[in-house]
Amino acid sequence: MNLEEQAFAQEFIRLATDGDARGWHERNGGNLSYRLTAAEIEACVDCFHNTAPWNAIRTAVPVLGGAFFLLTGSGKCMRNVRFAPAENTGIIEINAAGNAYRLVWGLTDGKPTSELPTHLAVHALKCTGGKEGNRVIYHAHPAHLIALTFILPLDDALFTRELWEMDIENPIVFPEGIGIVPWVIPGSEAAAAATLEKMRSYRVVVWAHHGTFVCGDTFGDTFGLMDVLEKSAQICGEIIAMGGKRQTVTEKNLRDLADMYDLKLNEAALSANSELEIGIKLCYTVHK
Ligand code: 13P
Ligand code: ZN
Repeated sequence: MNLEEQAFAQEFIRLATDGDARGWHERNGGNLSYRLTAAEIEACVDCFHNTAPWNAIRTAVPVLGGAFFLLTGSGKCMRNVRFAPAENTGIIEINAAGNAYRLVWGLTDGKPTSELPTHLAVHALKCTGGKEGNRVIYHAHPAHLIALTFILPLDDALFTRELWEMDIENPIVFPEGIGIVPWVIPGSEAAAAATLEKMRSYRVVVWAHHGTFVCGDTFGDTFGLMDVLEKSAQICGEIIAMGGKRQTVTEKNLRDLADMYDLKLNEAALSANSELEIGIKLCYTVHK
């Protein structure tokens, strides 16, 4: 079986295709990485070459020593991934010390995503001693979420609370809330460091005026998480455009939901008062 036919590669391609269909990947916007399991590395090892040079990783990731990642290339488009996986994606190997990587498959005329520092920093945080989970990290440019970062205060609790109110499933899907990073230079070590800090508490980090990073155990979980966030942001934007809320989901409603579903909801988001702190009172006439 060739590498592109492996189940993990097929799921990677499906996520890239679905994200493109949602309109989250204009031009080369967004990127995706997946940490292979030991069995997947074993199944693919005959497809790997060992001729590419090692490249230094500026902020070493010792915990990822010996790991392999399938990822999108810099400047490559999600819409092309399904047509030419080996041109638009590649597999990198991390050396034993976790301070260098080399290409072992694919990206025939390219290099890994410019957001590699953030992907590796978050993988290092989320991979806990070979645990099966948290293998997928996905960055997209969903328009409604980006738009909200021009309107809502860049505050984790307020952003979380607004999105929770938009869809009853949301407190169940991301009970821990979401993190917001103020504008950062794309591809920078500073962006990676800021994202890492927020990812210590969350699985979702929104980069103001740019896009969103999410991580998940499976490709399906990861795509679903991006999807609920973006749909909720769309509803929120429509409410703002309609002149604001006249009624909404209350703190008590959310606490009742938490009791029923045994959720540990982010306390700061639960008690956030969007009416007072939203900063766009003219639009918002909230009666809770
Ligand atoms: P890459 O093409 O290098 O992955 O960059 C796209 C992007 O969205 C940067 O934030
Ligand atoms: Zn981006």
